[in-house]
Amino acid sequence: MKRISLTQHLIEEQRLNNSIPAELRLLIEVVARACKTISHAVGKGALGDVLGAADTENVQGEIQKKLDIISNEILLQANEWGGHLAAMASEEMETIHPIPNRYPMGEYMLLFDPLDGSSNIDVNVSIGTIFSVLKAPEGMATPTEQDFLQPGTRQVAAGYAVYGPQTVLVLTTGNGVNCFTLDREMGSWVMTQRALQIPADTAEYAINASNARHWYPPVTRYVKELEAGKTGPRDKNFNMRWIASMVADVHRILNRGGIFMYPADAREPDKPGKLRLMYEANPMAFIVEQAGGAATDGKNRILDIQPHTLHQRVAVFIGSRNEVQRVTEYHAE
Ligand code: AHG
Ligand code: MN
Ligand code: MN
Repeated sequence: MKRISLTQHLIEEQRLNNSIPAELRLLIEVVARACKTISHAVGKGALGDVLGAADTENVQGEIQKKLDIISNEILLQANEWGGHLAAMASEEMETIHPIPNRYPMGEYMLLFDPLDGSSNIDVNVSIGTIFSVLKAPEGMATPTEQDFLQPGTRQVAAGYAVYGPQTVLVLTTGNGVNCFTLDREMGSWVMTQRALQIPADTAEYAINASNARHWYPPVTRYVKELEAGKTGPRDKNFNMRWIASMVADVHRILNRGGIFMYPADAREPDKPGKLRLMYEANPMAFIVEQAGGAATDGKNRILDIQPHTLHQRVAVFIGSRNEVQRVTEYHAE
């Protein structure tokens, strides 16, 4: 197979579809470079003082891991000076991060979950970085949180990196989904999968079943039917997987199909799920839809949701189209 680097792909994509202007290409390359740095830090493990907790809490009241903070810093520093961004927002920062005055301001806004799957860091299980790119609203002078509150349909790019047995980068700019593998010797991203497509049907599902007693009836019904397998109403056996890193679960689904669910439940009735709309659900929904899959919150298409706050949470049903449609229909009944 001819080696196509991330840079070559982005340039050819611009020539062909006019979908990646130079500033956006720079942005994507800078994020990809930052992911390389994070991958390097992750790979050091116990030898690099990157494991364990940091004794601080983030805005959602979660204890931060050292790698949450390190990854956030790497992404901030990499993206500050290039002139392509107006501001950044992160799961690990309470408020938005405007570009410092000493640097020129660009027209894009970057959002990220710097380290997804924090509970897996210390046990050497796949983790990742998720990012989403929006355009600054027309005529914006000083960026505010309000400027970020755009529905997912307005994303111009989204992607994630998985730090697993291999480090991969999955990317969409609204024209399909491609996957790049980090060539560790050369330090470059090489395209290894083009135009990924998620099968519409699947026999694999992912949900944290330890919460089953708190689920609402549509989720209970749907999962019970999957569990019943060949002898139940679905007349087919289903397999289950739960990595506890959304990024790795979604990567599996992108490669061989499946449905991933993190529903809202009765534990905290006011909390609409665990995952974050802006840093997790929106970018993943964009990628999955671009690969022919679907994503809803049980009722609405994720990408159509009008956000009200930066750190808003949302229920997520994402993956193979026909399964997402089915569980969404159960919510409507
Ligand atoms: P983060 O590490 O960024 O806080 O996200 C973790 C999320 C998601 O990646 C994963 O699917 C889910 O939390 C795991 O939840 P459980 O602890 O309920 O398994
Ligand atoms: Mn996360
Ligand atoms: Mn995180």
